[in-house]
This record gives sequence, structure tokens and C-alpha cells, in this order.
Amino acid sequence: MVEKKQAVIYYSLTGNTKKIAELIARETGADLLSVEMEKPYTKFSASTKGVFQVFRQSRPRIVDEIDVTDYSRIYIGTPVWCGTLVPPINTVIRNANFSGKEILFFCTHKGSKGNIFKHFRDILKDSKILGEKDFQDVVDKDSAKEVTEWVTLVKIRKV
Ligand SMILES: Cc1cc2nc3c(=O)[nH]c(=O)nc-3n(C[C@H](O)[C@H](O)[C@H](O)COP(=O)(O)O)c2cc1C
Repeated sequence: MVEKKQAVIYYSLTGNTKKIAELIARETGADLLSVEMEKPYTKFSASTKGVFQVFRQSRPRIVDEIDVTDYSRIYIGTPVWCGTLVPPINTVIRNANFSGKEILFFCTHKGSKGNIFKHFRDILKDSKILGEKDFQDVVDKDSAKEVTEWVTLVKIRKV
């Protein structure tokens, strides 16, 4: 039988989404794949150039293209920017082939997640969406329990 591989793909500017991604990887045994930009945002440029790119639905260049060929179940994580996903994650989900993959979305935010999960679903129409979960105010919390509960709820087991 072919082994079912899992990955956690994420972008994080200030560490919150990274924290959740690492917890999910620890819980599931998935490979952890950080999306790095060729021209990384700073906290300042995120609020200027980054926001501009969100509204333009830009696909900024990333350092290594993410190859999802070997993975059958993929967690995709992003901070919420202006109620939607960040540009480098837009690059990944529009460029890589997620067709037929089992997808679980997660995001981190400060209280307003907008329509982010609808946006994800609209882009990844040919995937099997297994779950979605938002994590609020991650910086102030120990999120381990919340992650474990979600991962268990969606019946994710070590492969
Ligand atoms: C440019 C920008 C836009 C943001 N827009 C939102 C938003 O629409 N709603 C919200 O709740 N938080 C918003 N935030 C806060 C981030 O989503 C939140 O701090 C997130 O956890 C950061 O994740 P990270 O540490 O992985 O980068 C925004 C932050 C930035 C920098």
C-alpha cells in the first residue's frame, strides 16, 4: 500500500501561524513546509505593499516552489490579512496542483477572519476540503489543546 503522506504548508510574518503549524506537525507527524518570499515583507511593508498585493490578488515570488506531489493530505495555514489569505499563500495555492488532495485550512487572526475560508474554497475547487479552523489571538495563548482538539475532530492520525 502506498503510504499516505501529510504536509503542513504555512506562511508566517510574526510567528503566530508558525506556532500553530508546528503544533499541527507535531501532532500529526506531517512534514513542515514554510513558505519563504524572495522579497520578504517587513512589519511595515506588510501594511503597505502587502495590503496592496492582497487587494490585487498578487502572486509574489517565493524562494522554493512547493512540491505537493507526494502528499495526499495537506494543511495550509496563513495569517488573516484584510479578511483573506496572504499573497505568498495565494502564490502557493494557485501555482501548485492541489487537485484531488485532502485539504485542511487554518488561519490566525486578531478577531476578524472575514470570508477567508470561502476564498480558499473558491480557489481550491478541485480539492477535497476536510476542515477549516481559525485561531484567534494566538500570541497570548498556549494553543496546544485547541490544536489537538481540532486535529482529533477531523480524525487525523499519524500516517
Ligand atoms: C497587513 C495586515 C493585515 C491584517 N488584517 C487582519 C484582519 O483583517 N483581521 C484580523 O483579525 N487580523 C488581521 N491582522 C492580524 C494578523 O492576522 C494576526 O496578527 C496573525 O496572527 C499574524 O500571524 P503571523 O504571526 O503568523 O504573521 C493583520 C495583520 C497585518 C500585518
